[in-house]
Amino acid sequence: MRRTVPTAARSLAARGALSIAVAGATALAMPCAASAQAGQDVATRELAARAPAKSTAQGVRPDVDRLSIDELDRLAAESRQRWSTSRHGQMLLRILPAGPRPSELPEPESRGARLVALYCVQCHHLPDPAMHDAERWRGVVQRMVPRMEGKGNLGALMADMMKAPGGAQAPGLAAPRPGEAREIVAYLQRHAQQPLDPTQPGLARALDTDAGRMFRHACDQCHVLPDPKRHAAADWPAVVRRMQANMLWMNRVAGTRFDVREPQLRAADIVAFLQRHAR
Ligand code: HEC
Ligand code: HEC
Repeated sequence: MRRTVPTAARSLAARGALSIAVAGATALAMPCAASAQAGQDVATRELAARAPAKSTAQGVRPDVDRLSIDELDRLAAESRQRWSTSRHGQMLLRILPAGPRPSELPEPESRGARLVALYCVQCHHLPDPAMHDAERWRGVVQRMVPRMEGKGNLGALMADMMKAPGGAQAPGLAAPRPGEAREIVAYLQRHAQQPLDPTQPGLARALDTDAGRMFRHACDQCHVLPDPKRHAAADWPAVVRRMQANMLWMNRVAGTRFDVREPQLRAADIVAFLQRHAR
């Protein structure tokens, strides 16, 4: 039987900012998933206030197999320039931290990577496939396709943002067909985050210790709790440093101030926890 991870972390996080003390004395204020969600709600409302977009089902659908990886890198940079300088730029920059370039994706030559590189840069930074687990990716793509089709309350964004290759004068880009959406999901799932299995021997009890609680508070704010076995002990410090950079981005976005009354999350203890349960 698969037991669920205790959700105490979530309810704690819902109270407000969590902070993580970095080795040394500085502490980073870290907003919780709730405020990230609030940011998204603001985004949704902001866009909902605009007139619904015309359907772009007639948009252009380029043959991704004929686009070189260099071309995809160039198009991604062009897209970013377009959305980040649009009147929704500030909101769109808040959706995801800067991700890989198309050429830096795993299996960059594969069709899945090419489709992700073409479509998933039209409104925000290219997401890293390692960010979410397989189950979450299915849901995310199901949420994104209607946006690209100009349906729902984010239709206006679609009309403004989706552009076929061809520079400023390019026509609109059509949303992926159902088969292409399935290829995108399969690709993201192939390179997805490995979620923690709380039934692993020894892990359930460890998650209930102070270090385990700190790990849960810090590390399930943006994605599922990662499996400590994903990395060898020697590799975890660098991964956690990268995550702290992601948290800094999130903090800058939400503008949460460090509050000394909030629980302190010590990066060193989280690393030690991960290392104890590493491969
Ligand atoms: C038409 C615009 C548009 C396109 C194209 C688009 N997105 Fe999004 N995306 C959004 C908006 C708006 C949000 C913020 C609201 C939300 O999360 O639903 C978002 C949020 C996200 C998030 C952050 C939220 C989370 O659950 O982690 C991820 C990841 C994401 N998109 C992945 C993708 C992928 C993968 C693709 C390509 C298949 C894609 N997006 C294409 C508009 C778009
Ligand atoms: C502010 C959002 C955010 C928080 C909080 C966060 N992550 Fe991540 N995580 C990401 C993003 C974005 C990616 C994909 C890009 C990357 O790998 O840097 C990711 C990917 C990962 C991956 C897969 C990539 C790899 O190198 O294996 C692991 C493992 C991971 N995170 C662990 C953690 C741990 C441990 C914590 C808690 C210390 C944490 N994350 C907290 C945003 C976050």
